[in-house]
Amino acid sequence: MKKKLTKVYVGGTFDLFHEGHVRLLRRAKKIADIVIVALNTDAFVLHYKGKLPVMSLAERMAVVKACRYVDIVDVNEGGADSKPCILRNMPDFILHGDDWKGDALLRQLSISTQFLKTHRIRMVYVRYTKRISTTALKERLKKQLL
Ligand code: CTP
Repeated sequence: MKKKLTKVYVGGTFDLFHEGHVRLLRRAKKIADIVIVALNTDAFVLHYKGKLPVMSLAERMAVVKACRYVDIVDVNEGGADSKPCILRNMPDFILHGDDWKGDALLRQLSISTQFLKTHRIRMVYVRYTKRISTTALKERLKKQLL
C-alpha cells in the first residue's frame, strides 16, 4: 500500500532570508515529506509591524522557492486569519520557531485547539535561532552604513 505523503505548514514573512530561516526549514523537511511555506503579504506586514518588508512579496517568494528544503510557496492572503491558507494546504503539522508558542501563536494564526483537533493538525516548535533575525540584520546594516 502506498504511504500518504505528510505535509508541514510554515508561516512567516521570511524577509532578508537568513540562517535562522534555513535551520527552521531544514527541520521542516525532516518532519514531513512536503514543506509548504505560507508568506505574509506586504500589506499585512505593513499593518502588523508598521513597516513594509525590505523585500517585496515577489522577491521573498523567489528566494524561499529556491530553498532546497521548500516544496511549495503559498501566500497567506488572509493576513491575521491563516485559516483559509491552512485549510487549502491541509497540513499534518504546523511548524514555528519557539519565539511564538501555545495560545499566543494560535491567536496570532486565528486558530483554536478545536480547529487543530478537527483537522488533525499538530503544532511543532523548533528552537528559535538566537543570534540572527531579520531585525538583527537590519541593525547590522545600519551600523555598516554609519
Ligand atoms: N525563525 C527562527 N529563527 C530565527 C528567525 C526566525 O526559527 N532566528 C523562525 C520564526 O520563528 C518563524 C519563521 O522563522 O517560524 C519566520 O520568521 P520571520 O518572522 O520571517 O523571521 P525573523 O527573522 O524573526 O523576523 P523579525 O526579526 O522581523 O521578527
